[in-house]
Amino acid sequence: MAMNWFHRRLCGSQRWARYVESDLLPWALRDVELGEHALEIGPGYGANLRVLATRVPKLTAVEVSAELAARLDERFGSQATVIHGDGAATGLPECEFTSVVCFTMLHHVPTSRQQDALFAEAYRLLRPGGTFAGSDGVHSFIGRLVHLRDTYNPIDPNTLPERLATAGFADVQLTVRNGQQRFRARKPDQP
Ligand SMILES: C[S@@+](CC[C@H](N)C(=O)[O-])C[C@H]1O[C@@H](n2cnc3c(N)ncnc32)[C@H](O)[C@@H]1O
Repeated sequence: MAMNWFHRRLCGSQRWARYVESDLLPWALRDVELGEHALEIGPGYGANLRVLATRVPKLTAVEVSAELAARLDERFGSQATVIHGDGAATGLPECEFTSVVCFTMLHHVPTSRQQDALFAEAYRLLRPGGTFAGSDGVHSFIGRLVHLRDTYNPIDPNTLPERLATAGFADVQLTVRNGQQRFRARKPDQP
């Protein structure tokens, strides 16, 4: 389902971009090595993509909304390869990326099964030793209100480490802060 009006306004706003750059992204990626080729799943209006483009030599993004993917390509096409597609089935080559990241998007994936498919795809796309990292909100009443007539399937932080381990990841770390959860996990060197 497409994002509702309020949500589109928020994610496309300067205010959101400033918050992402100054607070959310630095926290979500603190001490995370992105390496030479990063993939962002679900970039939306590009608040994170804009910052990531300054941090990695090579950047790819996969966005499920055709409209947003076209918009991102227009805006960031010189800095990143933007693909219209599903982060759970990208069609990209396996072991292509040194890091896969996603921010504030997992709750937009409608079912746990589809979220698990996205974790499995992140694992497939990573080189051995690569990192899967990101952040998302934890369930809240306000979160549910913001998502009226929109997809809202926040992940229970108590279950995320086990779900990432089931996808094959090692060294899973999870932190919760101010209604946000961040995770990082590594594809083992010898899967
Ligand atoms: C709330 S927005 C967040 C956008 C951006 N990550 C940010 O933090 O500003 C969620 C985005 O994830 C995208 N999305 C949802 N499911 C996806 C999937 N399976 N594959 C790729 N993108 C997806 C949506 O189209 C939307 O652009």
